[in-house]
Amino acid sequence: MTLSGKTALVTGATAGIGYAVAVQLAAAGAEVVVHGRNAERGAKTVQDVENAGGSACFVAADLSDADDVRRLADEAGEVDVLVNNAGIYPVIATFDATDADFDEQINTNLRAPFVLVQKLVPGMLSRGDGAVVNVSSVAASRPAADAGIYGASKAGLELLTKLWADEFGARGVRVNGVSPGPTRTAGTADFGPDGIEGMGRTTALARAADADEIASAVTFLASPAASYVNGTILDVDGGRPAIRPVA
Ligand SMILES: NC(=O)c1ccc[n+]([C@@H]2O[C@H](COP(=O)([O-])OP(=O)(O)OC[C@H]3O[C@@H](n4cnc5c(N)ncnc54)[C@H](O)[C@@H]3O)[C@@H](O)[C@H]2O)c1
Repeated sequence: MTLSGKTALVTGATAGIGYAVAVQLAAAGAEVVVHGRNAERGAKTVQDVENAGGSACFVAADLSDADDVRRLADEAGEVDVLVNNAGIYPVIATFDATDADFDEQINTNLRAPFVLVQKLVPGMLSRGDGAVVNVSSVAASRPAADAGIYGASKAGLELLTKLWADEFGARGVRVNGVSPGPTRTAGTADFGPDGIEGMGRTTALARAADADEIASAVTFLASPAASYVNGTILDVDGGRPAIRPVA
């Protein structure tokens, strides 16, 4: 799964799944543009990526602001791999959600990946080589309680993944998605009444995932090992338990 000579931009790379992706892509030989918001966490991630044997730089940007996303793309420069990882998943019931809640989730989870593809994929197409990996969620295909806006943002991202795979594939750019199940990250550390471990117990593997287990699927899809994989949403969710017959 070598990525030597490639440059990868990973959004939300200073924590959770994005951090694990940044370290794994660097270990595979990529130069990594680490995106985040916090300069201190950015510097630490760059250090960790370098310790993993790669090279990295940090670019700060607020993904909920389209102009800032465009600036991020300009500062990242020419990239061969784009990992749209960053996302927010607040728990908000339909009748409690404000316009601002709606806009923040849709803009961060759906518009930012769209703008990054608009800005960065033309360069990949002109070089005839590139890979985009979008991090979705099981909530895109199975409605999750009080996470309707979130699920809609990820369902939109999955639709775009399949559209872009078709639009760009013949010109050398593959687009795929990873759909994680419950994963131990900074964002899920204080999740729900039973926590992320409780959600993990509902999977067929009966446990939550570590961020590295999601990142390895992202790394595979970004790499030449997945050269004939395009338009796929890879479930990395521990498996769905069978429906048990009622006694
Ligand atoms: N952890 C899970 O159980 C799980 C399950 C399914 C899908 N996902 C998806 O995986 C991705 C990563 O999740 P995670 O759990 O690692 O998240 P996390 O909260 O641990 O980390 C997300 C990173 O994105 C950054 N980010 C969020 N909003 C931003 C913004 N407006 N501008 C710039 N940066 C921003 C955060 O600062 C953070 O560094 C998300 O897209 C999430 O929806 C996670």
